Amino acid sequence: MNVGGLPTRTLWLSIDGGAVEIIDQTGLPHAFVTARLASLEDAAHAIRAMQVRGAPLIGATAAWGLWLALRSDPCDAALERAHATLLATRPTAVNLRWALDRMTAHVRPLPASERAAAARALAEKICDEDVALNRGIAAAGLPLIRALAQRKTPGQPVNILTHCNAGWLATVDLGTATAPIYAAHDAGLPIHVWVDETRPRNQGASLTAWELANHGVPHTVITDNAGGHLMQHGQVDLVIVGTDRTTATGDVCNKIGTYLKALAAQDNGVPFYVAVPSPSIDWSLSDGRREIPIEERAGSEVAQITGRLANGTIATVSLLPAGSTVANPAFDVTPARLITGLITERGLCAASALGLRGLFPNRE
Ligand code: MRU
Repeated sequence: MNVGGLPTRTLWLSIDGGAVEIIDQTGLPHAFVTARLASLEDAAHAIRAMQVRGAPLIGATAAWGLWLALRSDPCDAALERAHATLLATRPTAVNLRWALDRMTAHVRPLPASERAAAARALAEKICDEDVALNRGIAAAGLPLIRALAQRKTPGQPVNILTHCNAGWLATVDLGTATAPIYAAHDAGLPIHVWVDETRPRNQGASLTAWELANHGVPHTVITDNAGGHLMQHGQVDLVIVGTDRTTATGDVCNKIGTYLKALAAQDNGVPFYVAVPSPSIDWSLSDGRREIPIEERAGSEVAQITGRLANGTIATVSLLPAGSTVANPAFDVTPARLITGLITERGLCAASALGLRGLFPNRE
């Protein structure tokens, strides 16, 4: 997507070829800053500290992290250590393991002297593939929005609700849930996006809103609790969210609060779709609620909030009374039965084992 008129990805190889550069998402929406990752530790820190975040981008960053590690030491032990270090950064998004396993399987059989170059080539390929997957999701999701637009009074927008940031900042480019939205907007369909703020880290308010504003897509930021009310009043035509891990049976793990949106959508007859690139499918799991590890993040994310003061400085303030305890599960699981359909790079399918196997017949 463009930033300041220039096509920009969320991570790229530096011009000198010596490092990976990223958009440091912790600065947004107030500051667009980039950071340079020059070592395995830099890459692991960027994922852990959520300078990069979103399932596909976590995977892509980990792929580059393996390259950074092999560049300084290509031996077997260093490869295993890098794999383990990166895998431990965040537990929920399966794209992390997918990318690390793919990279490791590719370089392990090679002589040590060839490993870094092979890792770099595959990391580049994983990034390009991510963009292609998202283009596929855009093509598969666009007809859904077009069909809703045809039922609208001329000039009335299709109202789409999204949660968290499953936009281009969560991927290498284009996004998953936002890919059909950008495609619809670019095709001239009138759309309007309800953006859940997504407490505690506010990925919706800070990142999705920034993205949509940057691309000129009409949108409104709402509190996480407003979606049900809007659905009851006919103000949401479609929900599209992303996923951090989808089971082989179609259960979807995504940012905390997604499940409540799915319940409200079902109660109000609002179609609830999940954009699922295939690297986000964990073919080994069949029961999302029991089997997917849910990241528990620091209580400070709930107890405090960060923003920009009137004088322009960034400040973090406390919200809670002294002595209150805090819980911060970062993801939840939406059962397949609440999901209208999955939007994959190969087309739409039911959120079920049958639906997924129909599109991906070669996967277990
Ligand atoms: O904790 P985050 O910001 O990494 O969580 C991101 C999400 O939950 C996204 O919705 C998900 O990764 C899908 S991104 C295309």
